[in-house]
Amino acid sequence: MSRNLFDVTDKVIVVTGGLGQLGAQFSKALVEAGSRVAVFDIQSGPQLLSDRFGDLAVSPYLRFYAVDITSRKSIEDAVWQIIAEWGTPHGLVNNAALDTPPNAPAAENGPFETYPEASWDRVMEVNVKGTLLCCQVVGGQMAEAGRGSIINIASIYGMVSPDQRIYEYRHTDEGAFFKPVAYSASKSALYNLTRYLATYWSSRNVRVNTLTFAGVFNNQDERFLEGYCAKVPLGRMAHEDEYNGAVIFLLSEAASYMTGSNMVIDGGWTAW
Ligand SMILES: NC(=O)c1ccc[n+]([C@@H]2O[C@H](COP(=O)([O-])OP(=O)(O)OC[C@H]3O[C@@H](n4cnc5c(N)ncnc54)[C@H](O)[C@@H]3O)[C@@H](O)[C@H]2O)c1
Repeated sequence: MSRNLFDVTDKVIVVTGGLGQLGAQFSKALVEAGSRVAVFDIQSGPQLLSDRFGDLAVSPYLRFYAVDITSRKSIEDAVWQIIAEWGTPHGLVNNAALDTPPNAPAAENGPFETYPEASWDRVMEVNVKGTLLCCQVVGGQMAEAGRGSIINIASIYGMVSPDQRIYEYRHTDEGAFFKPVAYSASKSALYNLTRYLATYWSSRNVRVNTLTFAGVFNNQDERFLEGYCAKVPLGRMAHEDEYNGAVIFLLSEAASYMTGSNMVIDGGWTAW
């Protein structure tokens, strides 16, 4: 029988933002594939864990760590525990991020010229510095062990600009609505963090890749869905489990010759 190229059995994988919509999907898929998953999230609590993971919340292959990825100490404390209990991680999925929610204060979704500096700092702190710190601490341990795979999760809004026309339905007499700049700029930064580290750690056998996604269905407003889906060649948003295969692929031996790359899964958004 041929070996399973996509085997991730017994690999120790850190998933940041593992209590979020997609992080929970990756974590569940990895546990189901036999990995040991260390979920890092700033949110915590047994109710949230059971809401997100159901029966898997009590699996010995899933552990939760209350980690703020903007704090190096917080990451280190969790990593030392993981190393003591499970050994050095084999994979890191840098998935935690802040976006501006649709109900954010008006200034955040207002004109670029007055986009608040404090909002820029908050998004950059988590999406860029948080990812950097996780790479330094978790990636540094993997480099010492001489193997590993890092996935930096990016977005089509970091590859190309958001199309502001699909948000026009939100313009009101009180003001215009724009998808803000910080999320896009923060996600763009990950492409070169990936390339930098792919070359920096090439001799240590740590592969580093970016995984770029398009929007995921999450009961968005009908008017948003109409505008958004018209721009997707496949005509719809992604289902929340449709990125799991790519995560498993990049963490497995099937991707052994892949580093410094950007894998795009976007229903065709960037194809026209
Ligand atoms: N959902 C989408 O439509 C979509 C599209 C493209 C890309 N992405 C990317 O996919 C990833 C996951 O998105 P999602 O929709 O699941 O987001 P989400 O908001 O549901 O989850 C993000 C998680 O990150 C955690 N987090 C935030 N700040 C943190 C911090 N300082 N320390 C630790 N954890 C922190 C949150 O608590 C949350 O659980 C993000 O990187 C996002 O940019 C999402």
